[in-house]
Amino acid sequence: MIKSFNKVSKINGKLILPGDKSISHRSVMFSALAEGKSVIYNCLHSEDILSTIKAFRQLGCEISLEPDKIIVTGRGINGLRKSNTELYLGNSGTTTRLIAGILTAQKFPSVLSGDDSLSSRPMKRIIDPLTEMGANIESTNGLLPLKISPVESLKAIEYKLPIASAQIKSCLLLAGLFNPEKTIIIENKKSRNHTELMLNLTIEEEGGFRKIYSSSENYPKASEYIVPSDISTAAFFIILTLLSENSTLELPNVSLNESRTGILDILKKMGGKIEMKNVKIINGEKRGDLVVHSSKLVNVEIPAEMIPNIIDEIPILSIAGIYAEGNFNIRNASELRYKESDRIKSVCQNLELLGIGITEYNDGFSLSGMPVKKKVTFNSFHDHRIAMSFSILSLLLDQGGEIDNFDCVNISNPDFINQLKQILS
Ligand code: S3P
Repeated sequence: MIKSFNKVSKINGKLILPGDKSISHRSVMFSALAEGKSVIYNCLHSEDILSTIKAFRQLGCEISLEPDKIIVTGRGINGLRKSNTELYLGNSGTTTRLIAGILTAQKFPSVLSGDDSLSSRPMKRIIDPLTEMGANIESTNGLLPLKISPVESLKAIEYKLPIASAQIKSCLLLAGLFNPEKTIIIENKKSRNHTELMLNLTIEEEGGFRKIYSSSENYPKASEYIVPSDISTAAFFIILTLLSENSTLELPNVSLNESRTGILDILKKMGGKIEMKNVKIINGEKRGDLVVHSSKLVNVEIPAEMIPNIIDEIPILSIAGIYAEGNFNIRNASELRYKESDRIKSVCQNLELLGIGITEYNDGFSLSGMPVKKKVTFNSFHDHRIAMSFSILSLLLDQGGEIDNFDCVNISNPDFINQLKQILS
C-alpha cells in the first residue's frame, strides 16, 4: 500500500502512545515462564508482540487479550510443552533471539523460522555462545530456520559480548535462568537493560565493564506489569513537533529508562525544548511525561558509546539532522546494517531521491544540504522505522511525500495514522 502525506502546518495536543515494544515482549515472555497468572497493562498490540504471544500459545501457555490488559497463565519451570508445528516468528528479531535462549534449555525440540527479513538477519551471534553453553542448534550459514534439539542440561558460562546487543545479552541471560549455577554476561558498551531490571539481576560494574549474573534464583514469578509508552515510538512525534512551527505536544507516561533516553539527551543538546515531568519508577522501569516545543536545532557530535542507546532512533534522528544547522554525521553504527532492513542503505537511498548530499560509510553516513522541492515516493524497505521516519519527513516537506509498502508500520505501531490525525492541524 502507498500512503500519501501533505505538509503539516502545526502540531498540537496530547498523545497517549502504545506500550514499549521491548518491555512488552519481555512482560509476555516472563509471564509465560512464571507459574500461574500474570497481568500486563498497556502491553503493545502490534505484529511483533503478536509473534511472541502466538509462539508462547504454541508452547502451551494460555494468553487472553482483553481490551485493557493481557492475562497470561504461565507454565512454571519445565512447564512449557513442545509445539506441534514450527514457531514462525514473523519479522521479530527480539522474539527470535530471546526465545532461542529459553528453548535451548527445554527438554523438547523446536524449530524457529521467520519472514524474508528475519531470515536474512545474523543468528550466529546467539548460536555460538549458546553452543558454548552446550546447546544443540542446527542452522545453515547462521541464518533461520534454527533447529533446536534438547540436551541433558546447559552449562553456566562467562561470556564477554563481542557486539553491544540487548538481544544477544538477553538470550544468554534467559538461557542462564535454567541452571542453579551463575551465568555471567560481560558488556563494555551498555545496551538496553530491561531484562536485567525486570528480572532483578545482580550487576557488578568493574573498570568500564558490567558483569550481569543470571541463574535459576532469578527465574520469574507471576507478576503485574504496567508497561510505559514506547520512547522509540515517541521519537517520531517528538522530532515532528520540534521541527514544526508554533507547536507543542504532550506525551504522558513515556519510558525514561536511561539505557533508552539517549535520543532525548542528543535532541536537547541540539537545542530541542523537551521537558520531563512526573517521573516515577514502576516494575524497575523509569517513566514520566514529556512536553515538547518547536525548536531551532543544531547538529552535534554523536559519541560512539551513545550508539547502542539510540540504535532504533537513528533513522528518525537523521531526519532531524537534515533540518538542523550544520552537517549530520553518524559513525560507529554498523549494527544498523543488521536491523529489519539495512538502515544505512535505506536512509541514504531515500534521501538521495531529494538531492541531499550523502557520504555513506560502512558504519554510518554524513548528510549535507536541504531537500529539493520534488514530490517523491520513498521506499519503506518493509521496515517499520524507515516507513515512519519518511512519513515524518513527508509531513515536513512543502510538497509532501509518499511511502511505498507503508503497512509494515504494523510491526511496532498499527495506530500510527490515527495518532498523527489527533495532533495535526
Ligand atoms: C531490542 C534490542 C535492540 C533493538 C531492538 C529491540 C530488545 O537490538 O534494536 O529493536 O528488545 O532487546 P540490539 O540487540 O541491537 O540491542
